[in-house]
Amino acid sequence: MRIRFSSLLFALLVCAAPFVAITGCKSLPPSKPSSEWTPEEARGAAVFQQACAKCHYPTSTHGLHGPGLQAITKVRAMPSGAPPTDERLSAVILHGHGTMPGTALDDQQMRDLLAYLHSL
Ligand code: HEC
Repeated sequence: MRIRFSSLLFALLVCAAPFVAITGCKSLPPSKPSSEWTPEEARGAAVFQQACAKCHYPTSTHGLHGPGLQAITKVRAMPSGAPPTDERLSAVILHGHGTMPGTALDDQQMRDLLAYLHSL
């Protein structure tokens, strides 16, 4: 019994380690429900549907064509290793990254989209 418990504990630690390394010891906070969106976040969600949804899941960390974006602004590092600052996010969105194409957005659309990304 003692052996089985410790190997279970070991398995738990091994499984949790990569997750802890990515999120910094915290589990991902849940996305804000759409019923609580501000007008800005709601407009950003519409921009996301048009420009991003075909390649990214907003409420999952599972990949589609690109990585899932749940809690993307709350992680320490994005898949590329860069921190998810608004500056970095805007640059990735406008100019693309790797196989991701850039998207032309005006300032208002970018502000709304960033507000939405922060709610994920
Ligand atoms: C045609 C598919 C496609 C579209 C459209 C797209 N992306 Fe991506 N995105 C990708 C791929 C593929 C990657 C991984 C790129 C890489 O690092 O090689 C990626 C990566 C990212 C990353 C992670 C960047 C990093 O530094 O790790 C973010 C954030 C992101 N996309 C946000 C967005 C947002 C917001 C939109 C909408 C404006 C969008 N993407 C539109 C395919 C797409």
